[in-house]
Amino acid sequence: MNQPTVLVTGATGTVGSALVPALQARGVTVRAMVRIPGRTVPGVQNVVADLTDAESVAAADSPVRFLRWHAQVEEHVRRLDVEHTILRPNLYMQALLGFPAALSQASGRTIVFRDVSPDQFAEGLAGVLPRWQLDGLLEDYPHYSRGEAGSTPPWPN
Ligand SMILES: NC(=O)c1ccc[n+]([C@@H]2O[C@H](COP(=O)([O-])OP(=O)(O)OC[C@H]3O[C@@H](n4cnc5c(N)ncnc54)[C@H](OP(=O)(O)O)[C@@H]3O)[C@@H](O)[C@H]2O)c1
Repeated sequence: MNQPTVLVTGATGTVGSALVPALQARGVTVRAMVRIPGRTVPGVQNVVADLTDAESVAAADSPVRFLRWHAQVEEHVRRLDVEHTILRPNLYMQALLGFPAALSQASGRTIVFRDVSPDQFAEGLAGVLPRWQLDGLLEDYPHYSRGEAGSTPPWPN
């Protein structure tokens, strides 16, 4: 199970250069965001992005757009003056478990699970799902297979 990765912006600065080793000492996986490709932070994964360039920041953050969208919604809810509880379910295992048997029974054929490449996945769903949803799922499933959905990051205090 992978632990969540923490993106440190300003990683080359006064705060960032102290924060990166402090997080590492706690066993946190750190990704350092740097502006200048040649000016990297040693010992951690680096990503080049500029805070004035929204696209580069989005690419440096989670590569999974649905997660970024969820984060925006959660941030909005946090700012509302209402009591709230946010649940962060990942893909429901029960839904998948039901598929082969249900489908096998309905079709009269043995249905088995086969892993497919992202290209095959996209090809199979092209025209079935809208493009935005398909593109999101193409980020979602590799995210699951990397084990990144195996835990939920703690809610910030
Ligand atoms: N240090 C303090 O005592 C203190 C106190 C209160 C508040 N703060 C605030 O805390 C923040 C960090 O402070 P600091 O002392 O660590 O600052 P710093 O040493 O000046 O470092 C700034 C960091 O931000 C990066 N950066 C600047 N513009 C950027 C951009 N457009 N896109 C991406 N990265 C950018 C810099 O990258 P480059 O290496 O590429 O320049 C550098 O890593 C600042 O907002 C500061 O105002 C600091």
